[in-house]
Amino acid sequence: MSISFSQELLIPTVLVLLVSLCLYFRSSSRSKNPSVLPIDWPIVHMLPAFIANLHNLCDYCAASLAESGHNFRIHLPQAHMFLTCDPVNIRHIFTTNHTNFPKGVEFAAIFDIMAGSFFTIDGEPYHRQRVKFHSVLGNPRLVASMVACCRDKMENGLLPLFTQMASTGTPFDMQEVVSRFMFDLAATSLFGVDTSLLSLDMPPMDVAIAMDTVMEVALFRHILPASCWKAMRWLNIGPERKLDAAHTVLRGFVTDMIKEKINRGCIGNEEEQESADILSSYINDPDYADVELLHAMLLAFMLAGKDTIGVTLIWTFYKLAQNPKIVSIIRSELSPIALHKIDTGTGAMVIFDPEETKSIVYLRAVLYETLRLYPPAPFERKTMVADNIMPSGHEVHAGETILISLHSMGRMEDIWGKDCHDYNPHRWLLEGSNKLRYEPSHKFLSFNSGPRICPGKEIAVIQMRTIVATVVWNFDLEVVKGQSIEPKLSCTL
Ligand code: HEM
Repeated sequence: MSISFSQELLIPTVLVLLVSLCLYFRSSSRSKNPSVLPIDWPIVHMLPAFIANLHNLCDYCAASLAESGHNFRIHLPQAHMFLTCDPVNIRHIFTTNHTNFPKGVEFAAIFDIMAGSFFTIDGEPYHRQRVKFHSVLGNPRLVASMVACCRDKMENGLLPLFTQMASTGTPFDMQEVVSRFMFDLAATSLFGVDTSLLSLDMPPMDVAIAMDTVMEVALFRHILPASCWKAMRWLNIGPERKLDAAHTVLRGFVTDMIKEKINRGCIGNEEEQESADILSSYINDPDYADVELLHAMLLAFMLAGKDTIGVTLIWTFYKLAQNPKIVSIIRSELSPIALHKIDTGTGAMVIFDPEETKSIVYLRAVLYETLRLYPPAPFERKTMVADNIMPSGHEVHAGETILISLHSMGRMEDIWGKDCHDYNPHRWLLEGSNKLRYEPSHKFLSFNSGPRICPGKEIAVIQMRTIVATVVWNFDLEVVKGQSIEPKLSCTL
């Protein structure tokens, strides 16, 4: 181990945190200035304000960016960062000048469980992986199998569970149910194995929880100085201890899945190689013979496909429960299709297929509106290669961290209008028509932008459209009174 530290390092860290909090509360109790922008103190810089607002970090960044005109510099004792949600800067970072804004080594270190996979790398190695995952995700057999699996899981998992809860009037945790459902879907498309986390007996979901831990501890790693979290990892204490346990669970899970595939005799077996799951495309590929890399790739796929859709569904159900008018519009658009299905005798519970919901533009508008306000990845992080002047006029320097707040973008009045905080799917429709309004990806960044735009976007929309249509047609959604529904402290919203 190259680092040699002791617990002594933690004492100054704790002291800095305490001083920070004192300064923050002193300044906020004295100040008559309604500005939310953090004060830049000597030594501790803006740390007090960020620590005090840790519980509502996304909203705090949105308020600060609104006040500062979409950009501001964050000064912390360990680093200076440039925070932006400015569409002109975003186009510059993600498209026109993207080679100058890689993810960088710090990002790769934070997500070390996915080291070497497309999620953490840049440059030529990334390009080689990109060609491969585009061809894998573009395989019509994979898409067809994902659609079929989604239908099967709704019919035999989600709908029976909701029916039971509704018939007995039992409240339940929607986030947990959706997480189980999405885990099964993602695992089937990835490994060709049904993990059956979504069943009436609700089996333990250690692997799904381990994935949540990775994203929660990653936020902590983004915030703390690298030397600090690396010290904690070395000492195996605090969140790093939890993360280490989560890594063990995840590695064990992926190893079991690969073993199962090998036991089915897929090595060199052409029929298996043609199987409609992602692992089949990688397991016989000599470029991925390194076990660590294969594990990292599979976990990156799991992350890309599970939480993104899961998070969008949960926020959509929450907003629909609060907006009965939007539910009525969706139902009236679905009504002709549903009535036809009932007439043709497909049973009382209506399950929509992707082709049937394709023409319902309003459903896509509902999903985009959720993604505008609740992007599953609320932040992106880049590292500058060479000094640069942003289109906004700000100077940024080589090695500096650039944080892009996707969450704030959807909440800027001068980007989305005075009603930017309202949940209003109609903003996505062209006036007086039933056509979708085009918004460029540097303004609507939820699926990323430029050469690294999400290749799973259409698959995700197809799945989410059919799930939302089916749930909304068959059930009324109601939020249990007295709930405090807020984003968790995590890299996933
Ligand atoms: C609501 C659903 C989804 C959202 C909002 C979403 C969003 C994103 C975002 C923001 C990125 C960039 C991440 C980064 O580089 O830091 C990304 C990349 C990616 N996504 Fe998605 N995603 C979704 C669903 C999916 C699905 C279902 C798949 C695959 C089955 C997928 C596959 C990928 C892959 C392979 C990348 C890496 C692209 C690259 O680096 O070039 N995504 N996605």
